Amino acid sequence: MPRISELREGERFDGFFRIREYGERETRNGKKYLDLVLEDRSAALPAKVWEAGEQVLGVIEQGDFVKVRASVESYRGALQLRVQKIRKVIDEDFEEGFSPEDCVEQTPFDIDSMWEEIRQIALACHPLVGEFLISVFDPYEEKFKTWPAALRIHHPYLGGLLEHTLSVTKTCLYLADKYDVSKDLLIAGAMLHDIGKVDELSASGGISYTEEGRLLGHVVLSRDIVRDRAKQFGKLPEEFLLHIEHMILAHQGQLEWGTVKVPMTPEAMLLHYADDIDAKFNLVVRTIELDRGDEPFTSRNSIMQRSFYKVRPFLPLASEGEPGPEPSSVSDPSVSDSSSGDVSGDDLGPPVPDPDSGSP
Ligand SMILES: [Fe+2]
Ligand SMILES: [Fe+2]
Repeated sequence: MPRISELREGERFDGFFRIREYGERETRNGKKYLDLVLEDRSAALPAKVWEAGEQVLGVIEQGDFVKVRASVESYRGALQLRVQKIRKVIDEDFEEGFSPEDCVEQTPFDIDSMWEEIRQIALACHPLVGEFLISVFDPYEEKFKTWPAALRIHHPYLGGLLEHTLSVTKTCLYLADKYDVSKDLLIAGAMLHDIGKVDELSASGGISYTEEGRLLGHVVLSRDIVRDRAKQFGKLPEEFLLHIEHMILAHQGQLEWGTVKVPMTPEAMLLHYADDIDAKFNLVVRTIELDRGDEPFTSRNSIMQRSFYKVRPFLPLASEGEPGPEPSSVSDPSVSDSSSGDVSGDDLGPPVPDPDSGSP
């Protein structure tokens, strides 16, 4: 059965998916239809069930695993599915190849390797900082390894929070060597800046916001976790903790992006830009990946308010004078929907998976 990332316009197929988002809507004529987002391991796509009869309405819901017969259409330049048949999976489907793990989008990187890498970066810090970081992370190991980083746009899949945090931390490692800043502080801020997402989001039965996530947001929740843990830890200098708290509260950078404070230290500035790069770069890649039309430009991305050019640069091989690879679109199967949301620097996407690398 085809993966979402491999689907092309015009294709008809049967497949197993999970319902990531479920909405009942009405056409102008008052006819009910379902507005879904379906996912599998590789990606997610919007899907419409125009013929939503009694056998569907109120029977399937968000988080269900379903078998679908659908065709792939293009709507305003982006792919979506027109569903002809949909039902919950049944026991016999296992014999046909259904596997729940294949129906939940997840990071293309190895989770245990990323977890180990981020712990090693923590342990390479000043001993006090390393001990503190480990003391914050370890109680959240299970959640932090599997949590998404956001509902839709920015690493919205299992393992996304870890992938994003590691990526931002590695960018900050580079920046800490390049600029004259406190490396321990910058790394601590990078590793902790989104820790509150473990409380902001729920990943059971589909990704959704928790009540405290909606009412408080991950910026404040991150600061709460760090502050509470620092009290128990008791060894972190107050001034150092104050800097970390400021970096968390300022990491979204601009007031219109939901930041509590604008960055007022060198480390807070660098963290904000590292976070923003990771988010925006991923948005570009995901937008290009999802757009499988033949045009050289993607359809207009509503968040970045522009189209992106899909044709890759081309040079002949320098050593042999042989032609290089054919120009092609940036293509990687591990992408998903990136069509809505705010530009907070937090709700934007992942780094390009590098097949030669085990982590972002
Ligand atoms: Fe954030
Ligand atoms: Fe972030």
